[in-house]
Amino acid sequence: MNGKKIALVTGASGGLGREFAAILAKDSNIEEIWAIARNRKKLDMLEKKLGNKIKTFSVDLSDINDIKRFSGQLEESKPDISYLINNAGYAKFCSYDELNIDESTNMVNLNVNGVISMGLICIPYMKKGSHIINISSQAAFQPLPYQNIYSSTKAFIRNYSRALNVELRDRGISVTAVCPGWMDTDLYNRAEIGARKATNNFCGMVKPRKVALKALRDACKGRDMSVYSFYVKLAHFTAKVLPQRAMINLWMHQQRF
Ligand SMILES: NC(=O)c1ccc[n+]([C@@H]2O[C@H](COP(=O)([O-])OP(=O)(O)OC[C@H]3O[C@@H](n4cnc5c(N)ncnc54)[C@H](OP(=O)(O)O)[C@@H]3O)[C@@H](O)[C@H]2O)c1
Repeated sequence: MNGKKIALVTGASGGLGREFAAILAKDSNIEEIWAIARNRKKLDMLEKKLGNKIKTFSVDLSDINDIKRFSGQLEESKPDISYLINNAGYAKFCSYDELNIDESTNMVNLNVNGVISMGLICIPYMKKGSHIINISSQAAFQPLPYQNIYSSTKAFIRNYSRALNVELRDRGISVTAVCPGWMDTDLYNRAEIGARKATNNFCGMVKPRKVALKALRDACKGRDMSVYSFYVKLAHFTAKVLPQRAMINLWMHQQRF
């Protein structure tokens, strides 16, 4: 490892990922931000907006072959990765039978397999004191009918990250599962497909910048979870004390399903 000190942010062209990139671009310890997403135009706009620290890569993280190809960039540059932020992810608000096999498994490929794979290719380039931040969700606290695959992928990320945090302790690398509630981003454009029963109550909505700032603070403290806002903290506490069946009923009532 003799390359530049970098932060690698996936899904950096919009929403929460763009906030992480903007905050870290101002960090004088970070020489480059490696920003990953699919859409080249949006990546170019990000580069224009955030300046010459930003290096962009168009990679489809739901495609394992694309990730393997990207690993060649790491082999070539041998960067010192201070932050790996696995943020790219998406949701679908619908019943299990309103998505076909490709659509259902693509969500798992990005939200789960993409996160595991990026960790595997990046960890060899991470030193003591570096941080992995994996974006989970409040949806990880309980099963969510009509958002089922999404919430299940986020439950995986929460568990996976907390266990990985223990496994990487010896190497001095922290892993933090970030569990945001509703954030004001473009996620809804892809999630809403006109389903018969679709999530419609988005209470406790916050700005993504606040979530990103808290996540970075928690990662630097070595915390294995980051939960922002009173509303999400209350949901987290409730999910610990109530039976899961009661939590599911509360969700069904809240969304008027
Ligand atoms: N918004 C919420 O209420 C909320 C709540 C809890 C958790 N989260 C989580 O927060 C994270 C960020 O979501 P967001 O709300 O900021 O959504 P967003 O505004 O839709 O941004 C998603 C980002 O991921 C990129 N992306 C999507 N599919 C990709 C793929 N296959 N390969 C590479 N990049 C891909 C998008 O760019 P391209 O389309 O150009 O690829 C974009 O940059 C996600 O993991 C989401 O599950 C969101």
